[in-house]
Amino acid sequence: MKILYFLLCFLLLSVGVRILQTRRNFSNNNNNEEKDNTSLSNMINPMSILLHQMNDTQLFWKSSFIPRIKGNQIHRMPKIAFMFLTQGPLPLHPLWEKFFEGHRSLYSIYIHSLPGYVPDFPLSSSFYQRQIPSQVTKWGEISLCDAERRLLANALLDISNERFVLLSESCILLRNFTTVYNYLIESRHSFLYPYNDQGPDGRGRYHPGLLPEVNISYWRKGSQWFEVNREVAIEIVKDTKYYPKFEKFCKPRCYNDEHYFPTMLYIEKPNLLANRSITYVDWSRRGSHPATFEGNDITDVFLKKIIDEQSCEYNGKTTHICFLFARKFAPSSLDSLLRLAPQLFWY
Ligand SMILES: *[C@@H]1O[C@H](CO)[C@@H](O)[C@H](O)[C@H]1NC(C)=O
Ligand SMILES: *[C@@H]1O[C@H](CO)[C@@H](O)[C@H](O)[C@H]1NC(C)=O
Ligand SMILES: *[C@@H]1O[C@H](CO)[C@@H](O)[C@H](O)[C@H]1NC(C)=O
Ligand SMILES: *[C@@H]1O[C@H](CO)[C@@H](O)[C@H](O)[C@H]1NC(C)=O
Ligand SMILES: *[C@@H]1O[C@H](CO)[C@@H](O)[C@H](O)[C@H]1NC(C)=O
Ligand SMILES: *[C@@H]1O[C@H](CO)[C@@H](O)[C@H](O)[C@H]1NC(C)=O
Repeated sequence: MKILYFLLCFLLLSVGVRILQTRRNFSNNNNNEEKDNTSLSNMINPMSILLHQMNDTQLFWKSSFIPRIKGNQIHRMPKIAFMFLTQGPLPLHPLWEKFFEGHRSLYSIYIHSLPGYVPDFPLSSSFYQRQIPSQVTKWGEISLCDAERRLLANALLDISNERFVLLSESCILLRNFTTVYNYLIESRHSFLYPYNDQGPDGRGRYHPGLLPEVNISYWRKGSQWFEVNREVAIEIVKDTKYYPKFEKFCKPRCYNDEHYFPTMLYIEKPNLLANRSITYVDWSRRGSHPATFEGNDITDVFLKKIIDEQSCEYNGKTTHICFLFARKFAPSSLDSLLRLAPQLFWY
């Protein structure tokens, strides 16, 4: 009798646990119960509260060790990691929310902001609780690259993430989610352009201390705002060969954020690179910073020019979709962008 009673209790208990588990699985991303953090299910559907106690060494190690699973070995939908490197607020987030609407299972967001910043996104926002543990960054210093690697490493912990794009608070999207998603997921290359600038702002910044890892003929420059696949992301995060050299010898007027990743990837993974950027920027106004567009710059004609009047290579073929993202847009541009997005960007 007693045995039967125990059996019954056990049965009820396991049914209960089962229901709880199911509920947990459906309670979406907002639980921080990390029981078996090495299991496969955990990697596919990893912690959603992004705060952890790992320092950079542990984080980079862990994220580069996670299996580089490709293709259909496990049933999962590949996701795009949108990584925001910001000071604090995201003034253009209403535009982004529109873009993300209805695609929750196909993207993840990661935000690295200055450590003291406390965001106030509502529960309904795509940006809610997407902050990663952050540290102070200074323009032109290696700390900026540290932040980028931290974003990549956090995003790599979710093995569903296949593509990784770095964005700032002044970036906007030029296409709808479906177009962006298919374009990136199906691309054979990572969007990064290590170019050979022979002038004082290129080769002029090379330091012989970088030898033997980097000689001057392999010294490259590139935009900080990259888009990479998983293989390139892991390459960046696991690097211990170039990092100490750049940290020591690339000091202003050498800027790590313009040289470290482009040079390293040009040496290590050249055939994976598209040799073009996916983020539009306007340098025509000269100076050391690109143009920032304000509210009254935003017209039909201006945006159409960025969207349509291009031609470039994609998976070996010529395409007219060259840019998916654009910068730099001031907060004052938001209203015009929201108004024009449905007809020009399809979202
Ligand atoms: C819920 O997730 C757990 C692991 O977190 C898994 O063992 C279990 O099978 C899942 N249940 C359902 C119904 O998917
Ligand atoms: C799993 O999580 C526990 C505590 O949450 C931590 O101590 C342990 O190091 C983690 N294991 C791995 C492999 O990350
Ligand atoms: C992280 O912690 C490990 C072990 O405690 C230590 O060896 C390592 O130097 C730390 N790394 C950083 C960047 O603080
Ligand atoms: C997304 O944009 C493309 C044009 O770039 C359009 O053909 C397509 O219908 C749009 N999809 C949705 C779901 O709006
Ligand atoms: C420069 O560096 C590249 C990559 O490490 C190497 O293949 C090449 O042989 C080097 N060239 C010289 C002249 O040292
Ligand atoms: C980009 O350039 C590298 C070397 O300069 C080359 O190996 C690679 O194939 C190029 N990528 C494309 C898409 O042409």
